[in-house]
Amino acid sequence: QAPLLVDTFGRRIEYLRLSVTDRCDLRCTYCIPSGFRGFQEPASWLRFDEIERLISIMAPRGLKRIRLTGGEPLVRRDLPNLAARLAAIPGIEDLSLSTNATRLQALAAPLREAGVQRINVSLDSLRAERIAAICGRDVLATILAGLKAAKQAGFAPIKINMVVMRGVNDDEIDEMVDFCIEQEFVLRLIEAMPMGTTGRNAQYLDLQPVRRRLQQERGLIATDVPGGGPARYMKTPDARLSIGFITPLSEHFCATCNRVRLAADGTMYLCLGQREQLAFGPLLRRGATDDEIVGALRSAMSLKPERHEFNEKPEKISRIMAATGG
Ligand code: GTP
Ligand code: 5AD
Ligand code: SF4
Repeated sequence: QAPLLVDTFGRRIEYLRLSVTDRCDLRCTYCIPSGFRGFQEPASWLRFDEIERLISIMAPRGLKRIRLTGGEPLVRRDLPNLAARLAAIPGIEDLSLSTNATRLQALAAPLREAGVQRINVSLDSLRAERIAAICGRDVLATILAGLKAAKQAGFAPIKINMVVMRGVNDDEIDEMVDFCIEQEFVLRLIEAMPMGTTGRNAQYLDLQPVRRRLQQERGLIATDVPGGGPARYMKTPDARLSIGFITPLSEHFCATCNRVRLAADGTMYLCLGQREQLAFGPLLRRGATDDEIVGALRSAMSLKPERHEFNEKPEKISRIMAATGG
């Protein structure tokens, strides 16, 4: 079949970020505002058979990669079962997971067996009191235990996502670098994006000077790391450290965008930083035909915006990251 999943700017959409719940057991300041009440009803979440059907229609039309996201995806019951069903769909070459790791100790092995190939873990600090302040609970030891289990289960590469925030954890970058060298993790430094009331200017740190400093001090050179996302990678000459920079504000990567997002309720968001969306939930729930779903996918592609406007319109996106699928 001709690839249907191509947008109006000629970008091939091969990567779906699939949110399986908008809920989370943590409250990271950049992701869910404290006291947030607007979670979706679990009854509105797509069932596994509905997700499987949609993916089965997308895979022969250009979809190659799926990343399970949330909220916190491991909060969704029976996730390894969904993972196994998605991994079995012909054409899906890359199945990965983004998690806060609080439930990874028990789930790493079953997920790996189910066919999840790669794991990215949020870890913004190595200090217990900072994790408590950023995530709302002191879960550092639990996260580290989850990471250990992920390593033992054979995930590679394991990437650490550090949202670098001014005055919060920006003094810890070198410690994180050394930790990731020692643990053989890939480190990614991320600029906070303004979603809902989170990630606003006060926390934003431009990562370009950080990159220049690390480049000089550690002798970084360009490299590639397996993955489908927007990070730009560098490594030390001895290759013991690979570090990715995710810089949506200081140097965006929209020209090479290859992804869309599906929220837990089946709403497809065509861009993280724009409002364009198309509801697949009602279609799937009323048993729409394959042709109808293909038509909806075609419409969705025509809606995908060229780029975000986080710099120009930081107030534009009122939905929070957890509702959107990271
Ligand atoms: P890999 O397959 O390992 O490359 O994963 P990834 O980097 O795509 O996924 P992950 O869930 O680890 O996301 C890391 C960070 O990149 C998060 O802060 C995401 O919000 C951000 N990110 C991922 N895709 C996009 C995107 O299309 N646009 C923007 N602005 N940010 C993105
Ligand atoms: N800005 C940038 N990254 C964010 N994440 C969550 N919220 C934001 C935000 N406002 C990141 C987390 C997680 C990944 C899936 O998304 O660090 O690792
Ligand atoms: Fe793609 Fe939008 Fe992300 Fe840019 S901000 S890379 S256009 S999803």
